[in-house]
Amino acid sequence: MKVGIVGAGMVGSAAGFAIVMRGVASEVVFVDRNAALAQAQREDIHHAVPFAQSCKLGAGGYDSLQGAGVVILAAGVAQKPGESRLSLLSRNAEVFSEVISQVRTYAPDAILIVASNPVDIMTEVAQRASGLPPERVIGTGTLLDSARFRALLAGHLGIAAHSVHGFVLGEHGDSEVLAWSSARVGAEPLDRIAAQLGVDITESVRAKIDEGVRRAAYRIIEGKGATWYGIGAGLARLVLAIRDDQRAVLTLSIRTPQVAGVADVAASLPRVVGAAGVVSTLVPSLDPPEWEALHRSTALLKESAKGLW
Ligand code: 2OP
Repeated sequence: MKVGIVGAGMVGSAAGFAIVMRGVASEVVFVDRNAALAQAQREDIHHAVPFAQSCKLGAGGYDSLQGAGVVILAAGVAQKPGESRLSLLSRNAEVFSEVISQVRTYAPDAILIVASNPVDIMTEVAQRASGLPPERVIGTGTLLDSARFRALLAGHLGIAAHSVHGFVLGEHGDSEVLAWSSARVGAEPLDRIAAQLGVDITESVRAKIDEGVRRAAYRIIEGKGATWYGIGAGLARLVLAIRDDQRAVLTLSIRTPQVAGVADVAASLPRVVGAAGVVSTLVPSLDPPEWEALHRSTALLKESAKGLW
């Protein structure tokens, strides 16, 4: 699998690094309007190959995307401390109009993965501009937020994060919804296992974990200017699911006919991912307040995208 990465900043390069370290691709190519940056990332990550799996590294213009099975779109501006993801919309939508047409010219068969923020609306921008079917234009959405949820809950329970299952749905942003009612440990409901372990899942524990997930990016950006390791690892995970036709269930954003009563919107739901992209969308089990929160989150996305098309 050849993977193209457009945007060689922190997110694009972290994705390239994670892909190399996990042995997900036979070739990774960086494209950036700052050609020197793309070359430098290529060279630096090339030096990790002897410690990882064999992988060819490249950097160049859009024509170097030829033959890519997946192209990750990580171009555009990122948040400054305190700035919301949605505030980036007009700037990044403009960047994407040029990027998408170039990617489509040189990698017409590639599945597109969108990582630029605000990722849900940028996914719809990319889908509309590319003319590809929605299942082939996949936004990372709440892939990272679900990982944050699992990691924090796992830490609280003293259980491996791999055995803790929980979804964050809706917007990848301030209005996202932590689906507490469907969280599982192993195959059991969270509350049952917590009681057996003698661990409290009180309202204040939930509020602390909610804040830990929802405000994670703000804290990290305050401390180091951007976030990249979590999303880089998530991107490698997603590419692996596509490469191996895994049918993995991941929370991802694609343009969807209806989400929680909101028509035609890109927002995260649990999706089954394989070689053709998103092959199914799953309807989560939520309690009524969670459905209402998911409705508000997707309605906000729909409203924020108004006027773009
Ligand atoms: C994140 O959640 C900023 O969207 C990025 O880490």
